[in-house]
Amino acid sequence: MGITLKSPDAQAKMRAAGEAAASVLMMLEDHVRPGISTAELDRIARHYIEGPLGCVSATVGYTAGGSRPPFTGAICTSVNHVVCHGIPGPKVLKKGDILNIDVTVIKDGFHGDTSKMYFVGEPSVLGRRLVETCHQAMIEGIRQVKPGARLGDIGHAIQIYAEARGFSIVREYCGHGIGEVFHEDPQVVHYGRPGTGLELVPGMTFTIEPMLNAGRAEVKELPDQWTVVTKDHALSAQWEHTILVTETGFEVLTLRDGAL
Ligand code: MF3
Ligand code: CO
Ligand code: CO
Repeated sequence: MGITLKSPDAQAKMRAAGEAAASVLMMLEDHVRPGISTAELDRIARHYIEGPLGCVSATVGYTAGGSRPPFTGAICTSVNHVVCHGIPGPKVLKKGDILNIDVTVIKDGFHGDTSKMYFVGEPSVLGRRLVETCHQAMIEGIRQVKPGARLGDIGHAIQIYAEARGFSIVREYCGHGIGEVFHEDPQVVHYGRPGTGLELVPGMTFTIEPMLNAGRAEVKELPDQWTVVTKDHALSAQWEHTILVTETGFEVLTLRDGAL
């Protein structure tokens, strides 16, 4: 699957899909608290997506091209040492947990994909520092986006910011082109060398979604074939936005409250 450049009409649809995805994360804000299970959060998200939002979940039934069992959630819920793709289930949130919720919706045939970290009560000092560093690392990457820049500029900006602060970057999962297809080219890795890789041009849309670990970078996949955890069980964090390359720079299609 090659890289698709989005026409002005497709860009408008990506903007609407991105806005819809962002609204799911805002809606869930009030529900994330000690005592709620990740399955309950998923049920709330799914009702909202399929009801008032009038969208389709891109993750329910998703098999990553037939390589995995159908995913059951309308959100991924990744708690503490879970890196990504946590399956909603009976796990009950407790004070001090850090939680990533990742949502992808389809609106008018186009995908919007975004994730954020939530604190359940007060986090540990390390948990807060990891989450805040990961967020700023994502922003450092986003700020590189403009015509003529290269994918390696994005990866490098994320890598130096994160590693200078003592955190490691997950290598096995990356950002991705997105549009009418959920995961399309290019792959957007969160490490690299400046001036290398694909050159960005207006109309490209892709995600930037760094995963940072408090310990070692290595991860493993659980037997459910979805859940990814840190090998050393150290904390992990992730943030994700869907980005459009504009004539002059970037537009974040999945902004919440109108700002980064
Ligand atoms: N939203 C994830 C991403 O950022 C993919 C989740 S696939 C799922 O690319 F099946 F685990 F939901
Ligand atoms: Co994504
Ligand atoms: Co996502």
